[in-house]
Amino acid sequence: MNDELLERWLDAVLATPGLTALKDREDARRVLLDDALAGVELVRRFDGPIVDVGSGGGTPGIPLAAALPEREVTLLEAERRKAEFLERWTVELPNLRVVWGRAESQVTDCYLVAVAKALAPPPVAAEWCLPLVAEGGVVVLWVGPSVEPDRVSAVAEKLAGELVERPPGFLVLRKTGPTPPGFPRRPGVAKKRPLA
Ligand SMILES: C[S@@+](CC[C@H](N)C(=O)[O-])C[C@H]1O[C@@H](n2cnc3c(N)ncnc32)[C@H](O)[C@@H]1O
Repeated sequence: MNDELLERWLDAVLATPGLTALKDREDARRVLLDDALAGVELVRRFDGPIVDVGSGGGTPGIPLAAALPEREVTLLEAERRKAEFLERWTVELPNLRVVWGRAESQVTDCYLVAVAKALAPPPVAAEWCLPLVAEGGVVVLWVGPSVEPDRVSAVAEKLAGELVERPPGFLVLRKTGPTPPGFPRRPGVAKKRPLA
Protein backbone atom coordinates (compact mmCIF):
# COMPACT_ATOMS: atom_id res chain seq x y z
CA MET A 1 0.00 0.00 0.00
CA ASN A 2 1.20 3.53 -0.78
CA ASP A 3 1.57 4.89 2.80
CA GLU A 4 3.39 8.01 1.66
CA LEU A 5 0.55 8.96 -0.69
CA LEU A 6 -2.03 8.43 2.08
CA GLU A 7 -0.03 10.70 4.44
CA ARG A 8 0.06 13.43 1.75
CA TRP A 9 -3.66 12.97 1.09
CA LEU A 10 -4.41 13.34 4.83
CA ASP A 11 -2.32 16.54 4.97
CA ALA A 12 -4.14 17.91 1.92
CA VAL A 13 -7.59 17.15 3.40
CA LEU A 14 -6.64 19.00 6.60
CA ALA A 15 -5.16 21.93 4.66
CA THR A 16 -8.11 22.40 2.27
CA PRO A 17 -10.97 24.46 3.69
CA GLY A 18 -14.39 22.82 3.70
CA LEU A 19 -13.33 19.17 3.50
CA THR A 20 -13.37 18.22 7.18
CA ALA A 21 -14.30 19.80 10.48
CA LEU A 22 -11.42 17.91 12.12
CA LYS A 23 -8.40 20.03 13.07
CA ASP A 24 -6.17 17.62 14.94
CA ARG A 25 -4.03 15.37 12.73
CA GLU A 26 -4.32 12.32 14.99
CA ASP A 27 -8.11 12.66 15.14
CA ALA A 28 -8.16 13.02 11.35
CA ARG A 29 -5.94 9.96 10.94
CA ARG A 30 -8.26 7.88 13.11
CA VAL A 31 -11.53 9.02 11.51
CA LEU A 32 -10.51 9.48 7.86
CA LEU A 33 -7.76 6.90 7.43
CA ASP A 34 -7.78 4.19 10.13
CA ASP A 35 -11.59 3.81 10.10
CA ALA A 36 -11.51 3.48 6.31
CA LEU A 37 -8.72 0.89 6.39
CA ALA A 38 -10.68 -1.10 8.99
CA GLY A 39 -13.06 -2.00 6.14
CA VAL A 40 -10.43 -3.26 3.66
CA GLU A 41 -10.67 -6.98 4.48
CA LEU A 42 -14.47 -6.87 4.47
CA VAL A 43 -14.64 -5.06 1.10
CA ARG A 44 -11.94 -7.32 -0.39
CA ARG A 45 -14.28 -10.32 -0.01
CA PHE A 46 -16.74 -8.91 -2.57
CA ASP A 47 -15.63 -8.80 -6.22
CA GLY A 48 -16.15 -6.10 -8.79
CA PRO A 49 -16.05 -2.35 -9.26
CA ILE A 50 -16.45 -0.25 -6.12
CA VAL A 51 -18.25 3.09 -5.71
CA ASP A 52 -17.73 5.29 -2.64
CA VAL A 53 -20.96 7.27 -2.29
CA GLY A 54 -20.56 10.76 -0.78
CA SER A 55 -16.80 10.49 -0.65
CA GLY A 56 -16.28 14.02 0.76
CA GLY A 57 -12.52 14.49 1.08
CA GLY A 58 -12.01 10.93 -0.21
CA THR A 59 -12.80 8.47 2.54
CA PRO A 60 -13.17 5.54 2.52
CA GLY A 61 -12.55 5.48 -1.25
CA ILE A 62 -8.95 6.76 -1.44
CA PRO A 63 -7.61 4.46 1.32
CA LEU A 64 -9.49 1.56 -0.31
CA ALA A 65 -8.04 2.38 -3.75
CA ALA A 66 -4.53 2.46 -2.25
CA ALA A 67 -5.03 -0.81 -0.36
CA LEU A 68 -6.75 -2.63 -3.25
CA PRO A 69 -4.83 -1.47 -6.37
CA GLU A 70 -6.35 -4.22 -8.53
CA ARG A 71 -9.89 -2.90 -7.93
CA GLU A 72 -11.55 -0.05 -9.81
CA VAL A 73 -12.76 2.56 -7.29
CA THR A 74 -15.14 5.40 -8.23
CA LEU A 75 -15.59 8.34 -5.87
CA LEU A 76 -19.11 9.78 -6.24
CA GLU A 77 -19.50 13.20 -4.67
CA ALA A 78 -22.34 15.73 -4.97
CA GLU A 79 -20.32 18.90 -4.23
CA ARG A 80 -18.29 20.17 -7.15
CA ARG A 81 -15.49 21.70 -5.09
CA LYS A 82 -14.94 18.39 -3.29
CA ALA A 83 -15.06 16.45 -6.58
CA GLU A 84 -12.35 18.76 -7.96
CA PHE A 85 -10.16 18.05 -4.94
CA LEU A 86 -10.71 14.31 -5.38
CA GLU A 87 -9.82 14.44 -9.08
CA ARG A 88 -6.22 15.41 -8.19
CA TRP A 89 -5.62 11.95 -6.68
CA THR A 90 -6.53 10.09 -9.88
CA VAL A 91 -3.10 11.09 -11.26
CA GLU A 92 -1.35 8.95 -8.65
CA LEU A 93 -3.91 6.18 -8.24
CA PRO A 94 -4.59 4.69 -11.69
CA ASN A 95 -7.51 2.60 -10.35
CA LEU A 96 -9.34 5.71 -9.11
CA ARG A 97 -11.94 7.80 -10.94
CA VAL A 98 -14.25 10.58 -9.81
CA VAL A 99 -17.87 11.34 -10.66
CA TRP A 100 -19.39 14.66 -9.64
CA GLY A 101 -23.09 14.09 -8.99
CA ARG A 102 -25.76 12.82 -6.66
CA ALA A 103 -26.37 9.14 -6.01
CA GLU A 104 -30.03 9.50 -7.04
CA SER A 105 -29.06 10.78 -10.51
CA GLN A 106 -26.70 7.97 -11.55
CA VAL A 107 -27.24 5.03 -13.89
CA THR A 108 -28.52 2.17 -11.72
CA ASP A 109 -27.41 -1.46 -11.32
CA CYS A 110 -23.84 -0.98 -12.56
CA TYR A 111 -21.40 -1.41 -9.65
CA LEU A 112 -20.88 -4.57 -7.62
CA VAL A 113 -19.84 -2.91 -4.35
CA ALA A 114 -21.10 0.41 -2.97
CA VAL A 115 -19.50 1.74 0.21
CA ALA A 116 -20.51 4.74 2.30
CA LYS A 117 -19.23 6.32 5.49
CA ALA A 118 -21.02 9.21 7.21
CA LEU A 119 -23.08 9.79 4.06
CA ALA A 120 -26.46 10.15 5.78
CA PRO A 121 -28.48 8.32 8.45
CA PRO A 122 -28.08 4.61 7.60
CA PRO A 123 -31.66 4.08 6.28
CA VAL A 124 -31.11 6.99 3.85
CA ALA A 125 -27.61 5.82 2.92
CA ALA A 126 -29.06 2.38 2.16
CA GLU A 127 -31.72 3.87 -0.10
CA TRP A 128 -29.10 5.91 -2.00
CA CYS A 129 -26.57 3.07 -2.33
CA LEU A 130 -28.68 0.01 -3.22
CA PRO A 131 -29.86 1.25 -6.66
CA LEU A 132 -26.23 1.73 -7.75
CA VAL A 133 -25.46 -1.97 -7.24
CA ALA A 134 -26.32 -4.78 -9.66
CA GLU A 135 -28.05 -8.01 -8.61
CA GLY A 136 -25.62 -10.11 -6.55
CA GLY A 137 -23.61 -7.05 -5.48
CA VAL A 138 -23.35 -5.59 -1.98
CA VAL A 139 -23.55 -2.33 -0.08
CA VAL A 140 -21.09 -1.93 2.82
CA LEU A 141 -22.11 0.82 5.26
CA TRP A 142 -19.76 2.11 7.96
CA VAL A 143 -22.10 2.61 10.96
CA GLY A 144 -21.93 3.87 14.53
CA PRO A 145 -23.20 2.23 17.73
CA SER A 146 -26.61 3.95 17.50
CA VAL A 147 -27.48 2.27 14.19
CA GLU A 148 -30.90 0.62 14.05
CA PRO A 149 -30.33 -2.43 11.80
CA ASP A 150 -34.06 -3.25 11.62
CA ARG A 151 -34.78 0.11 9.96
CA VAL A 152 -31.99 -0.46 7.44
CA SER A 153 -33.29 -3.96 6.81
CA ALA A 154 -36.81 -2.60 6.17
CA VAL A 155 -35.42 -0.12 3.62
CA ALA A 156 -33.35 -2.83 1.93
CA GLU A 157 -36.40 -5.06 1.44
CA LYS A 158 -38.13 -2.27 -0.54
CA LEU A 159 -35.09 -1.97 -2.82
CA ALA A 160 -34.48 -5.63 -3.71
CA GLY A 161 -31.92 -5.93 -0.94
CA GLU A 162 -31.41 -7.78 2.32
CA LEU A 163 -29.26 -7.24 5.38
CA VAL A 164 -26.86 -10.19 5.35
CA GLU A 165 -24.04 -9.35 7.81
CA ARG A 166 -23.47 -7.11 10.81
CA PRO A 167 -19.75 -7.19 11.70
CA PRO A 168 -18.90 -4.57 14.38
CA GLY A 169 -18.98 -1.08 12.83
CA PHE A 170 -20.51 -2.22 9.52
CA LEU A 171 -23.71 -3.38 7.85
CA VAL A 172 -23.60 -5.47 4.66
CA LEU A 173 -26.64 -5.48 2.37
CA ARG A 174 -26.92 -7.83 -0.61
CA LYS A 175 -28.81 -6.88 -3.76
CA THR A 176 -31.08 -9.82 -4.59
CA GLY A 177 -32.68 -8.49 -7.79
CA PRO A 178 -32.76 -5.50 -10.12
CA THR A 179 -33.69 -2.07 -8.74
CA PRO A 180 -37.51 -1.99 -8.48
CA PRO A 181 -39.52 0.53 -10.54
CA GLY A 182 -39.90 3.89 -8.79
CA PHE A 183 -36.31 3.94 -7.47
CA PRO A 184 -34.18 5.90 -7.02
CA ARG A 185 -36.67 8.48 -5.77
CA ARG A 186 -36.10 12.11 -6.81
CA PRO A 187 -33.07 13.90 -5.25
CA GLY A 188 -33.76 14.87 -1.65
CA VAL A 189 -36.88 12.71 -1.18
CA ALA A 190 -35.12 9.90 0.72
CA LYS A 191 -34.03 12.36 3.40
CA LYS A 192 -37.38 14.17 3.62
CA ARG A 193 -39.51 10.99 3.61
CA PRO A 194 -37.33 8.06 4.75
CA LEU A 195 -38.71 4.63 3.83
CA ALA A 196 -38.28 3.41 7.44
C1 LIG B 1 -20.53 14.01 6.09
S1 LIG B 1 -19.75 13.88 4.54
C2 LIG B 1 -18.85 12.37 4.72
C3 LIG B 1 -17.70 12.33 3.78
C4 LIG B 1 -16.81 11.09 3.89
N1 LIG B 1 -17.48 9.90 3.41
C5 LIG B 1 -16.30 10.91 5.31
O1 LIG B 1 -16.56 9.87 5.92
O2 LIG B 1 -15.63 11.83 5.81
C6 LIG B 1 -21.07 13.43 3.41
C7 LIG B 1 -20.70 13.70 1.96
O3 LIG B 1 -21.71 13.14 1.12
C8 LIG B 1 -22.01 14.06 0.08
N2 LIG B 1 -23.40 13.77 -0.32
C9 LIG B 1 -24.52 14.02 0.39
N3 LIG B 1 -25.61 13.56 -0.27
C10 LIG B 1 -25.15 12.97 -1.40
C11 LIG B 1 -25.79 12.31 -2.49
N4 LIG B 1 -27.11 12.17 -2.51
N5 LIG B 1 -25.04 11.82 -3.49
C12 LIG B 1 -23.68 11.98 -3.46
N6 LIG B 1 -23.02 12.61 -2.46
C13 LIG B 1 -23.74 13.10 -1.45
C14 LIG B 1 -21.80 15.43 0.70
O4 LIG B 1 -21.53 16.42 -0.29
C15 LIG B 1 -20.62 15.17 1.62
O5 LIG B 1 -19.39 15.43 0.97
